[in-house]
Amino acid sequence: MSSTEDPAAKDRPAKLVVTGATKTYQTNSGPLHAVADFSMSIADGEFACIVGPSGCGKTTLLWSIAGLHSLTSGRVTLDGEEITEPHSQIGMVFQEANLLPWRNLDKNIELPFEIKRQKPDRERINKLIDRVGLAGFGNKFPRELSGGMQQRAAIVRALSFNPSVLLMDEPFGALDAFTRDEMNLLVEEIWLETRKTILFVTHNITEAVFLSDRVFVMSARPGRLAKIFDIPFPRPRTLDLLATKEVFDLVNEIKAEIQIGATPANHTSTENVQPASSPSRTPPSEPGQSGDRTNG
Ligand SMILES: Nc1ncnc2c1ncn2[C@@H]1O[C@H](COP(=O)(O)OP(=O)(O)OP(=O)(O)O)[C@@H](O)[C@H]1O
Ligand SMILES: [Mg+2]
Repeated sequence: MSSTEDPAAKDRPAKLVVTGATKTYQTNSGPLHAVADFSMSIADGEFACIVGPSGCGKTTLLWSIAGLHSLTSGRVTLDGEEITEPHSQIGMVFQEANLLPWRNLDKNIELPFEIKRQKPDRERINKLIDRVGLAGFGNKFPRELSGGMQQRAAIVRALSFNPSVLLMDEPFGALDAFTRDEMNLLVEEIWLETRKTILFVTHNITEAVFLSDRVFVMSARPGRLAKIFDIPFPRPRTLDLLATKEVFDLVNEIKAEIQIGATPANHTSTENVQPASSPSRTPPSEPGQSGDRTNG
């Protein structure tokens, strides 16, 4: 089911509300309209994804929601409070894990606490490290960790303050399809356990369908809200869901919506939408078997 209306939370209270978000960058060659009048309302505990063509303003929007830069007009509120600067209730995971190479994993995770001059919550951090499968790696340096392990560390770092909202900007875009499947399963599990409100940006429509309660489609730049898709599949979801006709059809419907909204200059192929064939929640042994969800 799709719509262009955002009926907020239906039966749940709105947690994160974006109203008329507009962002114009001043550049050497004049103003650049990145986001135009974008509104969305994310329910408490909802998992929402934003998809859209490259350059449509997804990262710009997410940074505004995180309070990392200001909007030209419009506003973002968290539980009714306007966000104008980074907020302890909002955690963020970026495409790159952004770990400092000269600090080991433990010290990287503790860095935000040091910056805030707070004592690291080691008990919470250790539980999270265990939860994401990094137990025993605390003294390893980033160069000793795989890309997936580095992103696991970035997730621990973002959750270490126990934020109620987690923003994720293409966190698995650089990972191979097999590792991405593993990470998507992990994120869904963590979300089911914690019921954080998650807003996740991705180019990968299958990933968005797998993870989301709702998918928000952005038009080409300046990014506007083009359509909202409800994702009805029960949870926990398994990778074999990706082999179903329902997912295949929904992915194609969303892909068509993105292509309609993309101008030729902005359009990039979104992904290979072949359905997946993995039979279980356990990731397949060969990359690509569970739907080679290649970014485009
Ligand atoms: N700091 C900046 N100054 C000027 N222009 C910027 C700045 N940041 C982004 N832009 C421009 O704003 C537009 C939106 O960029 P943004 O990074 O938000 O898009 P995106 O949807 O995240 O793209 P991608 O899918 O490739 O990550 C682009 O045209 C980009 O060049
Ligand atoms: Mg981006």
